[in-house]
Amino acid sequence: MDKSNIKSLVRMAQQADRHVLYQKSVQAPETEIELMIETYREIRGWEPISLREDFCGTALLATEWCKTDPQRTAQGVDLDQATLDWGREHNVLDAGDDVASRVELVCENVLKVQQPKVDITCAFNFSFNGFKTREQLLAYFEAARKGLNDNGVLVLDVYGGTESMDEVEEEREVDDEDFTYIWHQESFNPIDHALKCHIHFAFPDGSRLNRAFSYDWRLWTLPELRELLHDAGFSSTHVYWEEFEDTDEEDDYLEGTGNYREVDAIDNQESWISYLFAAV
Ligand SMILES: C[S@@+](CC[C@H](N)C(=O)[O-])C[C@H]1O[C@@H](n2cnc3c(N)ncnc32)[C@H](O)[C@@H]1O
Repeated sequence: MDKSNIKSLVRMAQQADRHVLYQKSVQAPETEIELMIETYREIRGWEPISLREDFCGTALLATEWCKTDPQRTAQGVDLDQATLDWGREHNVLDAGDDVASRVELVCENVLKVQQPKVDITCAFNFSFNGFKTREQLLAYFEAARKGLNDNGVLVLDVYGGTESMDEVEEEREVDDEDFTYIWHQESFNPIDHALKCHIHFAFPDGSRLNRAFSYDWRLWTLPELRELLHDAGFSSTHVYWEEFEDTDEEDDYLEGTGNYREVDAIDNQESWISYLFAAV
């Protein structure tokens, strides 16, 4: 039997690697690293060297961090050994010996890792929303603060907007890729802010990778986060918002520029991602 026929029977979703799809559709390490370095410089007056990537998953960002400067070091922390192993093979080792020697991956709860102390810690892709009570989130912020140098900074990405509290299924074509990313908010409970959501992927041959990733979150708001960060001992917090430009006057469509600036007040939007910096 012709083996090429067998291969064509295997649908695209079965051949896909969910970590590759995730990295291509939701991660933008270069933009986030630039923002972290620039904002740290604004707050402290010099550039950070050492990074801890909490909830690092495949440690793409930790690896990219070490590529930006031969002095930079990074520690990635995640509970899931299989995901860390994937990241070591596909990201860390792929970056070459020098970069790989400066990336440490630790399979541990972020509540427990405080050594070595670092200049900047990031917790991205909204992962802190997995802590559902004030006690748990405060414990995380306290642990993160203890793991920072005296001039350290913690940075979180925060999701919000009127649509963040709704049932939503939103498709997005991924640039130059042959798959569609689907963000699915299955349910939101306004009583306790429980938000259940999934990432699905769809392919041109009609196949789908349903629930490639699922999240069970409490959707924390910016004022709650800022209060808890101050309770955890951070001395100041700074909200950075993406600047938008009006690209089409007729339907008033605003497009993100990729530039962020510190804000104290802003019009709400259907959906937004901001960055919250907390200085020790
Ligand atoms: C949404 S993924 C984020 C991956 C990556 N940070 C990113 O930006 O794409 C969440 C990750 O957090 C990890 N995780 C969840 N709770 C954790 C905890 N308490 N300590 C360490 N890792 C945790 C999961 O194993 C998962 O890999």
